[in-house]
Amino acid sequence: GADPIDTCKRAAAEAAVAQVRDGMAVGLGSGTTAAFAIKALGRRVADGLTITAAATSGRSADLARASGIVVRDFATLATLDIAIDGVDEIDPDLRAIKGAGGALLREKIIATAATRMIAIADDRKPVARLGHAALPVEILPFATAFVTARIEALGGQPVLRMADGAPYRTDQGNPILDCRFPDMADPQALADALATLPGVLAHGLFLTEIDELSVAGPDGVDHRKR
Ligand code: A5P
Repeated sequence: GADPIDTCKRAAAEAAVAQVRDGMAVGLGSGTTAAFAIKALGRRVADGLTITAAATSGRSADLARASGIVVRDFATLATLDIAIDGVDEIDPDLRAIKGAGGALLREKIIATAATRMIAIADDRKPVARLGHAALPVEILPFATAFVTARIEALGGQPVLRMADGAPYRTDQGNPILDCRFPDMADPQALADALATLPGVLAHGLFLTEIDELSVAGPDGVDHRKR
């Protein structure tokens, strides 16, 4: 049988994809939950739904094309109607940490460009308070030591993300610092501090972008709105 977590991810994803309407421009997220949404959207396209799509990662673009979705270059699109993406954790005010999959920069652009952003999650993702997950920060390589020191001064514990024995590289070719914050008392103040730090290209705090959460547990799908 299917993994029960995968069953939840699929249910949350399908409930969000059911909100996509003919003619919409759709932002496609990244990660394992978003992959269920892309496959569900592909089935709707096969059934006749007409949409435009843009992807938050090369991997999601590949999956979308393999699922029969025509993917446009987001560089040519100013706005999107809806974005559907996973989260690493999300609080009761729909503030989230994203980026464990490394796609946070494009995810934040697409979430901001979208009129409506729906987060999709299994029931392990909601938290009372943000800060359990490490906060990913994509940085310009030139600023690695500088940003590392500044994040430590902000109370964080930055660790350079590795992959196969070498520094991980995003789709843009940049490294990521995964930053534990033992006390993330004020996520907005932290987001502001990170956003104004030169050399930080994106951080994984999504404090205002998410409009709705589709979350699934063993008892079904729950919808929460901001
Ligand atoms: C990708 O960069 C992330 O923001 C993902 O959306 C997030 O890590 C959730 O991924 P899963 O759905 O695989 O947990």
